[in-house]
Amino acid sequence: MAAYVQTLGPGRYRLTLARLSGEVLLVMDEICARAMADPLEKLCYRPGFRALPPVDSVAVQPQGEVWIVHALDSLPLHRHLAGLHAGQTVRRLGLTTETRCLGPNEWDITPEALERVMEEWPAPRLVYFLDLPQGEAELARHEQQGVFALLRLVQALQSRYPGAALVVKVVTGNAVDFPDSDVTPWPAGLHGFCRSAARELPETRFVCLDVDAAFQTPERLVAAIVAEPGTESGGLVVLRRGQRFAPGLMPAKLPTRPAGAPNAYRPGGTYVILGGAGGIGLVLARHLIRTAGAKVALIGRRSPDAGPEAAVAELRLIGDALYVQADATDPVAIKTAIAQIKEQFGPIHGAFHSAMVLADRSLDRMDQTTFEAALQPKACATVHFCHALADENLDFLLLFSSLQSFVGGPGQTNYAAGCTFLDSYAAYWRSQVAYPVRLLHWGYWGSVGVVASESYRRRLAEMGLASIEPDIGMAALDRFLASDWPQLLVVRAEQRLLEELGVR
Ligand SMILES: NC(=O)c1ccc[n+]([C@@H]2O[C@H](COP(=O)([O-])OP(=O)(O)OC[C@H]3O[C@@H](n4cnc5c(N)ncnc54)[C@H](OP(=O)(O)O)[C@@H]3O)[C@@H](O)[C@H]2O)c1
Repeated sequence: MAAYVQTLGPGRYRLTLARLSGEVLLVMDEICARAMADPLEKLCYRPGFRALPPVDSVAVQPQGEVWIVHALDSLPLHRHLAGLHAGQTVRRLGLTTETRCLGPNEWDITPEALERVMEEWPAPRLVYFLDLPQGEAELARHEQQGVFALLRLVQALQSRYPGAALVVKVVTGNAVDFPDSDVTPWPAGLHGFCRSAARELPETRFVCLDVDAAFQTPERLVAAIVAEPGTESGGLVVLRRGQRFAPGLMPAKLPTRPAGAPNAYRPGGTYVILGGAGGIGLVLARHLIRTAGAKVALIGRRSPDAGPEAAVAELRLIGDALYVQADATDPVAIKTAIAQIKEQFGPIHGAFHSAMVLADRSLDRMDQTTFEAALQPKACATVHFCHALADENLDFLLLFSSLQSFVGGPGQTNYAAGCTFLDSYAAYWRSQVAYPVRLLHWGYWGSVGVVASESYRRRLAEMGLASIEPDIGMAALDRFLASDWPQLLVVRAEQRLLEELGVR
């Protein structure tokens, strides 16, 4: 049989199918050819920054008490700050591991003692929370004086002064991945916390500011901090070289892979998926086996007989798979897991962080255990997973983050804090290792994973979110990995949500 195509005009064709003897079997006239719509159109967005107008440096400050809460090893800005609030009662609380009174308005204090110490004090109108670490920090110690302390402070303010009109100004130093600057990721969880807390507590105005402390004199820096009005949503404002910026999202067209070009996976390569026995992890494992004949190693905390064993048995019907039980928040356990995988499968070629725990709870009921349950798979586990892979010769390390980095849902201060920490840590880790470190924010997966339930579907549809289905998710992931983009958001969102997200 032969097929004969004639051009009738631009984009118009006639197709004739005939036997080799010349007998015509079929003629199709006026066939139109158009490029196929990209299935990822309107699903992909790249994070960036947009400039904000300058603010009036002599903005009127709220009258009433001012509190300055700061980690003791934070850049010492409190004296300069107090100077700009002359005439107001200024109380200073330096966060540390012991509580002692240094004067009527001055304390060194543990986060646990905050509520007790403020018992005698009237409601403040303005609270500064300063977290500008100087040099390297150990995550656990930093969390104590950072995000855990802010959680306790906000809870104490709510229970002690319910309904009080209050401004909470949270200032971090270089905690954001901004072009041409180094990242200090330790305070970055505060950004997600503030955005989510702002949604829960409308009577409290959260102003969240990330500054480049080294660039300015303390006097100029403090003047900018005092003048900063923040955004309506409690979203982050980034101050760099005297200019204000807001994080934003831009629609993006992921490059398509030319036909025949290799994808990002090595045929028969070994891939590790932290959280691989979860919903998206298993979709990914199947995809890697099918597209690359990969060997996949899944890591999770559950005992194998609580589900992962059965999942791995299914994967073994189509390829090579292994489950290792390990909690990535334990540095020894995750290192041992990586060694075990290498022993069985040989060198690791790529790694994915797909671990998460959802532990939604409103701030008034949020205890530290619940807070950590959602925070640590994104914070502490990320740090230990990255370190366990530090010396591997990877083609890539891909960390899964979330839309939460940009919206901050109510009841999710813990998960949102984890996501914004992970985002900054990805940028930091990129500067520490020789292999590419990529960051992929997912919108909402409705058919697999932790929120694949009818109640979440309804709740998220109200927000303007529709489900990313596995085939589209994997197509986006393949094209993202084949590109050289460091970061991407994949989401199916209605226009109203895109506008809320600041998509321009
Ligand atoms: N599903 C969505 O709509 C959505 C949206 C945005 C972003 N994401 C991101 O996509 C990824 C996967 O989400 P998913 O829906 O597939 O979640 P999932 O089904 O809950 O899977 C996550 C897995 O992480 C594992 N895990 C949690 N903590 C761990 C730890 N400390 N050490 C090792 N493993 C740990 C859990 O297994 P064990 O309990 O056995 O440890 C769980 O199976 C996550 O990174 C999430 O942030 C998902």
